[in-house]
Amino acid sequence: MQTLSQYLNQAQLSPALAALLTTLANSSKDISQAVRKGALAGVLGVAGTENVQGESQKKLDVITNDMLKDALAADGHVRALASEEEDEVVVLGDKGEFLVCFDPLDGSSNIDINSLVGTIFSVLPAPVGEISEQSFLQPGRNQVAAGYVLYGPSTMLALTTGKGVQLFTLDPVSGEYLLTVAEVQIPKDTAEFAINMSNQRFWEAAMQNYIADLIQGKAGPRGKSFNMRWIAAMVGDVHRVLSRGGLFTYPTDTKDPKKPFKLRLMYEANPMALLVEQAGGKASTGYDTILDIQPEQIHQRVAVILGSANEVDVCLEYHGR
Ligand code: AHG
Ligand code: MN
Ligand code: MN
Ligand code: MN
Repeated sequence: MQTLSQYLNQAQLSPALAALLTTLANSSKDISQAVRKGALAGVLGVAGTENVQGESQKKLDVITNDMLKDALAADGHVRALASEEEDEVVVLGDKGEFLVCFDPLDGSSNIDINSLVGTIFSVLPAPVGEISEQSFLQPGRNQVAAGYVLYGPSTMLALTTGKGVQLFTLDPVSGEYLLTVAEVQIPKDTAEFAINMSNQRFWEAAMQNYIADLIQGKAGPRGKSFNMRWIAAMVGDVHRVLSRGGLFTYPTDTKDPKKPFKLRLMYEANPMALLVEQAGGKASTGYDTILDIQPEQIHQRVAVILGSANEVDVCLEYHGR
């Protein structure tokens, strides 16, 4: 089986990008260890602080953020980073050709129940000149690489550098990521969807109607039965979509009128949208293609509908697209 370093060597990447992806992969191995030790390392529970999103931080949100930050600072190819757990962009130095955005621990509400969590990352080109938040505000289409690491029964890395999606599994014996699925393809059609149903009364009419028709099963306009899954970690739900198809959505809702969207564009929606498109799927807000959105703020949130291409298209028809 091909190792990650063998894959990166033959993927015709710049040496700088290959080195950065190796740094991210190595850091994820350390995070995997910390997550796996759990209560034994005293890393479960809350940190007692709040992030810029107004969310209570878990200890592991803070620990994993620091681990990635330290690894990227030592890497030498990264000018600056943006993270869910950092109020502002962190400038690392005046050298390096990349900016990195990350969600150090996605699904962190799962951590205390020993369920799926992950790390999501996005690599953008660094513009020349002084770096500020403005430098990060590039459409997801500009990403030179994106991926996630899923800390599940196996630790798995999903990676794209714009030439398809590859899945690697961490071998706990050798400590190497090994290529286990090359050229991931999301099936165009599906009979599976993922949404937090408890927000139903807060959705737009388009989403209400779409889900209502799915739930009617064979008797309804779709003429087939759909199954539902919700892992409550985007990284787990997107991994299922990459593995066997499906539609995942965190749609617009009016639960908190000041916060109509849940997922963050720069370090959740964009990297996942690139992976999904590179695997033959689609990713939209319902109205706009995620990768074409011009970001206005690093912590900006968006509605997300992604997965099997034909099913996303059906959902978009309900949105008048
Ligand atoms: P994070 O843990 O990084 O803040 O992200 C949580 C997100 C995402 O992973 C998941 O899809 C969603 O929140 C789960 O939301 P619910 O709590 O509504 O299930
Ligand atoms: Mn969070
Ligand atoms: Mn997240
Ligand atoms: Mn997070």
